[in-house]
Amino acid sequence: MSKSFKNKTAVITGAGSGIGLAIARQLAHRGTSVVVNDIDADRAEKAVAQIESDGGQAVAHPGDAGDVDVVQRLVSRAVDAYGHLDFAIANAGLTLFGDVFSCCPEDFRRLLNVNLQGTFFLVQAASKHMRARRQGGRILLISSNIGVQPHPGLAPYGMTKAALNMLARSLALELAPCRIAINALAPGATVTERTLQDDPNYEQTWQPLIPDGCVARPDDIAGAALFLLSAEAHHITGHTLVIDGGWSDAGCYPTPAD
Ligand SMILES: NC(=O)c1ccc[n+]([C@@H]2O[C@H](COP(=O)([O-])OP(=O)(O)OC[C@H]3O[C@@H](n4cnc5c(N)ncnc54)[C@H](O)[C@@H]3O)[C@@H](O)[C@H]2O)c1
Repeated sequence: MSKSFKNKTAVITGAGSGIGLAIARQLAHRGTSVVVNDIDADRAEKAVAQIESDGGQAVAHPGDAGDVDVVQRLVSRAVDAYGHLDFAIANAGLTLFGDVFSCCPEDFRRLLNVNLQGTFFLVQAASKHMRARRQGGRILLISSNIGVQPHPGLAPYGMTKAALNMLARSLALELAPCRIAINALAPGATVTERTLQDDPNYEQTWQPLIPDGCVARPDDIAGAALFLLSAEAHHITGHTLVIDGGWSDAGCYPTPAD
């Protein structure tokens, strides 16, 4: 699999921590130069420093991945820094908790901006470059198992993630003639700084509800991401790969907090 990643270039949104950082590090470790986006400039710079200290190549491109201008420039940044772009990973995503009665228009718009608008226009900018270059490319959308299996209190979030799964299916048809593959990866409960902030007992909450008894680590998700970006996955496009230890088949929910 490592041959797939030598002398390649990737852009990845929300890569200053969590799943995005793990994907960026694994790609860089295998020889891909990475443009690291994060809304938090400090996190983006720290991620670059981490990748460089592991012997990889990276540059930071901070900004809000829900902003069309930011994601378009992210692609130009990769081309300016490394000459071309092979992989685009739309990873940045917001989670919005609350029931249908409490959701306000501002939060809803923000969710759509980051999870859908930014993703769509990143895909557009990356695929325009890949089409013009005529060397193909691979695009990955970080979705969620909540886009496959409903969860109370996560309707708007689940709706955006289901939309990403359909985006991959739809664009697989449009992009295949340009030799661009597009897939979605749908993680389940994964321990990241954010999930631990949302619930300090995150692992204990989720572990008993997952059939294989494991809560994912960012590196577990990154391993699946690298497979979908690799040459071994060349015949896979329009697919959503769920990686959640079987949770979406079991559909068990945590007991709501009082
Ligand atoms: N962690 C999980 O359990 C889980 C489960 C299913 C799906 N996902 C999805 O995986 C992706 C990554 O999740 P995570 O938990 O690693 O992320 P996270 O919430 O920990 O955030 C990762 C990084 O994204 C940055 N970020 C936040 N908003 C941004 C924006 N608008 N523009 C650019 N950067 C931004 C943050 O600063 C942070 O450094 C998301 O799309 C999320 O919906 C996560």
